[in-house]
Amino acid sequence: MERILVTETLKKVGKKVTVAGWVANKRDHGKITFIDLRDSSGVLQVVFTSDLQKKAADLKSEWVIEITGEVKERPESMRNTELETGSVELQAKEVKVLSKAKTPPFALETDGYEVDEEKRLKHRYVDLRRPRLQRNLRIRHKVLHFMRNYLSKEDFVEVETPILTKSTPEGARDFIVPARLQPGKFFALPQSPQQYKQLLMVGGLEKYFQIVRCLRDEDPRGDRQAEFTQLDIEMSFVEQEDVLDLLEKLYITLVKELFPEKKIQKTPFPRLNYADAIKKYKSDKPDLRKDTENPNELAFAWIVNFPMFEKSEGKGKWNAKHHPFTKPQIKNAKEITKKNIGDILAFQYDLVLNGNEIAGGSIRTHEPEILEKVFEVLGHTKKEIKEKFGHLFEAFEYGVPPHGGIASGLDRLLAVLLNEPNIREVMAFPKTGDNRDLMMDAPSDVSKEQLEELGLKIVKKKK
Ligand code: AMO
Repeated sequence: MERILVTETLKKVGKKVTVAGWVANKRDHGKITFIDLRDSSGVLQVVFTSDLQKKAADLKSEWVIEITGEVKERPESMRNTELETGSVELQAKEVKVLSKAKTPPFALETDGYEVDEEKRLKHRYVDLRRPRLQRNLRIRHKVLHFMRNYLSKEDFVEVETPILTKSTPEGARDFIVPARLQPGKFFALPQSPQQYKQLLMVGGLEKYFQIVRCLRDEDPRGDRQAEFTQLDIEMSFVEQEDVLDLLEKLYITLVKELFPEKKIQKTPFPRLNYADAIKKYKSDKPDLRKDTENPNELAFAWIVNFPMFEKSEGKGKWNAKHHPFTKPQIKNAKEITKKNIGDILAFQYDLVLNGNEIAGGSIRTHEPEILEKVFEVLGHTKKEIKEKFGHLFEAFEYGVPPHGGIASGLDRLLAVLLNEPNIREVMAFPKTGDNRDLMMDAPSDVSKEQLEELGLKIVKKKK
């Protein structure tokens, strides 16, 4: 008999059906045994009486079973309003064990916050059966689906960009990959598709987006993973206002359609100058909620007019506040002088939500003279610029449209929308604080042969 989902039993009262899933719970009441059967759609109460009770006696938590039986309407007084299927139950007639299971390493009925997280991550495949995580992944899917549809309707094209690439200046440490065919050389994994999306603008795409994994070798913490996902956008022939308008409308529509219970505190999103935010809130990602106890309040705000350059701590060197491709608010390269470096503002913007930075972007410099001047301020020699960013400068010599864009951190956005305390709860397979995948046991050693083939030698660091 064809298997149906447990929630489909609601439409099958009086019929014989087959369901399959995991044993979530068993209660023995003498002449009758109840099993709660869990599948991807929900939970169903299954009733075992007479001879079948003996079979039920063997079944244990998290075994995978298939049950054929008759769907019965529950009497009014026996209904369970907490279960979607609470008005029916299945009277078991046949039971088949599809797979036995070890005792699960932790309970699955709770929301799981009380369980040691390392244990949860080691057995993530068990942890994922928890209704809370099932909900998070399903809603994550809906959000990604919504974004793809929304941007496609606005004529954006999703383009995949390379994972094996060259170092990009997002400011974090790169993950590097040895190149077997070019001994001694390395690829860098992208901290973001920043340069590729700008090259796509030179390539005439005009409206690009990508839901893309970014890799930064930084210490993971609550709102940071070394591997995370961005909604990445770039547009040609636009100004700052166009980019802000696009993302703002996208998020307002998304909240309305997928999170109707949430209330956006203020639209259009308020805007704050970076300097004013720092002065008033001592933060460039202030939490502007009026009532922080209310989980359904969403306080979005744009932070604009960032300084173009900032002094790096200690060394007195200038760094780009965002990245070097950000356009300073000047008309020509001569306007950048030694004296005013710290005062120059940039066409840079961040979107904050309830105290989290959920997006950042900028209008880019497409004039080579200004870009060169910016790199000069950052202390790069002409030779270095050529080595690191020559491809971009060269591309810009072939006709570059004015362009700009933004990237939104999807994990952070989802954590806020799903009321989760950190981004690991909205990712299927997150890593630990010291960047390990406990389930796969990664990173791990590689064989001597692999190292030899790559011409690499491990030198143990002295402690
Ligand atoms: P930026 O580096 O500001 O900009 O990143 C954009 C957004 O990505 C999210 N984010 C992270 N989320 C989780 N873990 C991390 N380690 C992490 N790092 C960043 C944040 C942030 O606002 N290429 C530019 C964008 C552009 O200019 O278009 C960039 O990557 O929500």
